[in-house]
Amino acid sequence: MDRGALLSFEEIDRVARSFVRHGVRKLRLTGGEPLLRKVIEGLIAKLALTPDVEDLTLTTNGALLARKAADLAEAGLCRVTVSLDSMDDTVFMAMNDVGFGVRGVLDGVAAAAEAGLTPIKINMVVKRGVNDGSIIAMARHFKGSGHTLRFIEYMDVGTTNGWRLDDVVPGRDIVEMLDREFGIEPVDPSYRGEVAQRWCYRDGIGLVGV
Ligand SMILES: C[S@@+](CC[C@H](N)C(=O)[O-])C[C@H]1O[C@@H](n2cnc3c(N)ncnc32)[C@H](O)[C@@H]1O
Repeated sequence: MDRGALLSFEEIDRVARSFVRHGVRKLRLTGGEPLLRKVIEGLIAKLALTPDVEDLTLTTNGALLARKAADLAEAGLCRVTVSLDSMDDTVFMAMNDVGFGVRGVLDGVAAAAEAGLTPIKINMVVKRGVNDGSIIAMARHFKGSGHTLRFIEYMDVGTTNGWRLDDVVPGRDIVEMLDREFGIEPVDPSYRGEVAQRWCYRDGIGLVGV
């Protein structure tokens, strides 16, 4: 987009404050890729000063996270959600048209944990025939890591991703797969209207969201 068409930090801050005045308590920066925005720490520092905000978070593809995690935390970010659709580079790149591999994302997650941007959530969008074969490896990797893996329904995002219903893997299939491999059971929502249904491993080590 043309620079002039983007909201300035002052405008974003003003919109955020309006929402907070009407009762919003959680702010999430997303995109696009929020870490590509120059000096995003400046925006975070502004938003962190908003009275009554209880949670200030950001969703990222993780490419720049290793470099930026400490500065984000220092600016006042509470935590991050990181998108990662496979542990396998070929599958990961087939899902995402990005020019980086899984290693960099994992380094970003480690840097975020080190900087205290926790609890960290990992978002895995599941697309049939592309990365559904990565579900178990992803679950195994993050089980016991302290980070919560969440399986996201592949959604139609307009004309850009050629969405078909056949591409969607139903949540119950994912739950069945995890139950067969590890044994999982449902957990009550942690707040009213929670976005994901939560499941815990029967051995007590870790949680996933669907
Ligand atoms: C659109 S991205 C934007 C932030 C950042 N660039 C990233 O990759 O995390 C935010 C989240 O949207 C989700 N997402 C992306 N494409 C999706 C799709 N087609 N269906 C469902 N969720 C999707 C992913 O879970 C991702 O974590």
